[in-house]
This record gives sequence, C-alpha cells and structure tokens, in this order.
Amino acid sequence: MNAWVLAAIVVALLLLAGGVFVGTARRHDTRRGEGALSRETRRRDRAARAVEGTEPPPAPTGKEVELAAVAERSAELVPVAPSVPAPYVPPDPETIGVTRRQFFNRGLVALTSAGLAGFGAATVAFLWSAPKGGFGGKINIGKVDDIMAGISLGDGFYYVPEARAWVTQYPAESLPKAEKVYAAPVYAGQQIGFNTLYQKCPHLGCRVPQCLSSQWFECPCHGSQYNRVGEKRGGPAPRGMDRFAFTVSGGSVTVDTGNIFLGPPIGTNTTGQEPQGPHCITGGE
Ligand code: FES
Repeated sequence: MNAWVLAAIVVALLLLAGGVFVGTARRHDTRRGEGALSRETRRRDRAARAVEGTEPPPAPTGKEVELAAVAERSAELVPVAPSVPAPYVPPDPETIGVTRRQFFNRGLVALTSAGLAGFGAATVAFLWSAPKGGFGGKINIGKVDDIMAGISLGDGFYYVPEARAWVTQYPAESLPKAEKVYAAPVYAGQQIGFNTLYQKCPHLGCRVPQCLSSQWFECPCHGSQYNRVGEKRGGPAPRGMDRFAFTVSGGSVTVDTGNIFLGPPIGTNTTGQEPQGPHCITGGE
C-alpha cells in the first residue's frame, strides 16, 4: 500500500476520533440536568405533546444546573463581622513551671522524706520506755491483806494477770537458805513473806499453771516441775522459775515487771517442799 494512502487513512481516523470525542463532550455538556431519556420515551413524549398541542418549557442543561448551585452556595455565605482579638494573658508560671524532671525530683524527695520519717518514728517508738502501769512497768497488785486472802482462796496460789505473775507465800523458816541463793531485791520480798513468780516457763516459754494436788507448778508443755516457791524439781527446764522484785508502800504491793530476776539454779530447794499429792503432769522427776 502506498505510504501516502496509509497516511491519509491515519489522518482520517484521527479526525474521525476527534469528531467523536468533541461530539460526545458536547452532548454531555448540553444534556438535561435531570438525566437523559431513552429514544423510545422521547418519541412517545413528542407524540403525546402533538396530541395535546402543548410544549413544556425547555429543561435546564447540566451547566445551567451547576451555575445555579454555585450561585445558591454563594448566596448563603454571610460575611463575618470584624472582631477585636482578645488580649494575651501570659500563663501563671507557678502553674506551668513544673517540668517533668522537677516533678520526679520533688516526688523522689517527698517519698524519701516520708520513708525516713516513718523509720524514725518506728525507731523512737521501739526505744521509748514501756508505759507505766502495764506489763513491763511497775504494777500495783493490791493490799498485803488482800493478797494473803487471795492466796488462801487459791489454795496456796494467787494469780495476777496484769503482772503475768503468780504470788505464793515464802516460809519464814527457809529465809536463812534463801539469803544465800537469791538476789537482794528478791530476798527482800521473801522476808515480807511473798514470792512473785513470772508465769513464763524457763524452758520454752509456756505459761506454767499451778497443780493443786501436788501444790507445785507443773508445765504442761514438756513436764517441768517447780515447787511452790518456783524452784525446779523436775523436767527439762534449765533453772527455777524467773521472778520479780516488789515493794510494799502504805500496805500496797507494787511489782516491778520491768526487771526480771532469773530463777535459782537446778538443785536449789530452800523450802524442801515435797509433792503433797498426785502430780498433774507426768514426766517430771
Ligand atoms: Fe515448760 Fe517446756 S515449756 S517444760
């Protein structure tokens, strides 16, 4: 095929394509705003109008619809009245002046101070002397006559719970032996006629009860036995019962529970008291 003929065909196709493109664009631009009707529908409409003799107003084109919408939006714009800007007020530096570093530093200091204060308070409380009136201090356990009556009522034993102590009589005939064994404050009390014995067993700390049948103290935990004045007579205890000193003033007896005197050594038997009946606890000597 001749090159000129081929070029003419290509140019003709390009012109045809350009015509189709322009025609399509024109048809879209002039198309009615509400859309396009089919050819059959338009034919029937024309027939109906011919029968009625009426001709409706021409429908707006797409461009006219767009221009009307733009005009409508523009009409809705309301100009804003000019306003005076609010004066600048600088923020409070105390409010915003704490940086994250400062926050953590201050928190660390506060927590450390609180911890040290708590430790100090606990140390002071630990080292503070025991309050007077409770166990660990001086306790008034009553009049001498009342204590003697209590011992008689208890069949030889008088228990003072607030002092955690047993009170028993000390026989006057045993004082010469006691003087050689006991510390002076304890012996002073024995001279008055009493022992104030700590209820805690010297073995492992159980509360030692009295045994009315044997008239001894007999520990239920491991069977240690003590005579009525707290001298060890059997069992695993390493010594006799510990005891407190006491003073008598105006007929009242005050026990110093803050000062515990260790019990007499094993083998001490100043009263020579033998069991006066069956033991409450077996296992002693
Ligand atoms: Fe009293 Fe062991 S605690 S004998």
